[in-house]
Amino acid sequence: MLRSKVAGIGYYVPEQVVTNNDLTEFMDTSDEWIQERTGIKERRYGKKFEETTTTMGARAAEKAIADAGINKEDIDFIIFATLSPDYYFPGCGVLVQRELGITGKEAGALDIRNQCSGFVYGLSVADQFVKSGMYKNVLVIGAEMHSMGLDYSTRGRNVTVIFGDGAGAVVLQPTEEENKGILTTKLHSDGTYAEKLAFISPGAHGGYHQRDAEEKIDYAFSDAKYGEMFVNEHMLENGLLFPDMEGQFVFKLAVQKFPEVIREALEEAGLKPGDIDMLVPHQANLRISKFVQKRMGLSDDQVWNNIQKFGNTTAASIPIALAEAVEKGAVKEGDLVCLAAFGSGFTWGSALIRW
Ligand code: UT7
Repeated sequence: MLRSKVAGIGYYVPEQVVTNNDLTEFMDTSDEWIQERTGIKERRYGKKFEETTTTMGARAAEKAIADAGINKEDIDFIIFATLSPDYYFPGCGVLVQRELGITGKEAGALDIRNQCSGFVYGLSVADQFVKSGMYKNVLVIGAEMHSMGLDYSTRGRNVTVIFGDGAGAVVLQPTEEENKGILTTKLHSDGTYAEKLAFISPGAHGGYHQRDAEEKIDYAFSDAKYGEMFVNEHMLENGLLFPDMEGQFVFKLAVQKFPEVIREALEEAGLKPGDIDMLVPHQANLRISKFVQKRMGLSDDQVWNNIQKFGNTTAASIPIALAEAVEKGAVKEGDLVCLAAFGSGFTWGSALIRW
């Protein structure tokens, strides 16, 4: 039976460390509040005007490609998950192809806009391509440069303190080895509460969407007969060009959906929570990870957390955490690894991998 295995993995985090105390220079917050509510001590920010989501993704990809022992030119297909793309369009998939210098082969590139669950979705798509025999080397990247799009005033503190920059990547290859590779992936979504965690502008909503209807925000910028601008002064003045989250609402759903989707994958594979050697949850909030750990009856050494150092890097958080766990020898050949994510959309998912 053909399965896909993680043949190579790598991550990249920018050098610049930003502590909780650094953020108190701009907003009314404290190291104590951030650590107590999120577990975060510090995060990394990319070098302004030098690093981007694409360049960080490329650095992680180079490591994954080297780890797989292949050449960049061997990549058949690129999947790039991010919510902070360099451009509105084209996507980071083609930009990373150019950054890696592999445009000559004209390999396909696909961008995934599923925020926190973007990497799990990307992995699942790649898994289908590899299992079907369509591609032999699929590169899956999760990368974010949040620091370029955050509200650094007190107004944005509930979101801004959480996010960090970074990138992680894997190369998936086919394998016929018994009991190795991706056993299953589970993907879900429910768009009912799309605006509870969203970055709605700039966008083509033209002034109408659910949250505006509720709050009666008037976006109208001009009296033009057709169309509006993606970005207008009203949005700027009212801080609508930043991510926005109803934290407690998201938190409550997250702690319900994480265990649900992990159990779903385990059941399909005929396994139980105790069989998990390493759970790598999306690094949303340390309190969420601890809650999930308790619900699943797992011990500290069965769950990998690094949000303390890197913050929430959205689509990059799982590949960064997984790559770090592998690098530190916490994930070994034959281990059962479980990935799980929940976030904006809402979208959520899990993957079970026999390492
Ligand atoms: O990654 C994708 C999915 N995302 C998540 O899963 C995130 C889920 N949500 C969370 O992690 C948490 O809800 C947050 C960390 C975002 C917020 O923590 P919370 O304990 O839910 O706080 P809260 O939003 O209920 O706010 C409590 C208080 C408020 O003040 P009042 O109204 O009680 O006076 C906030 O204004 O804390 C205040 N607050 C802050 N204070 C200091 C919010 N952010 C900050 C801050 N520093 N950075």
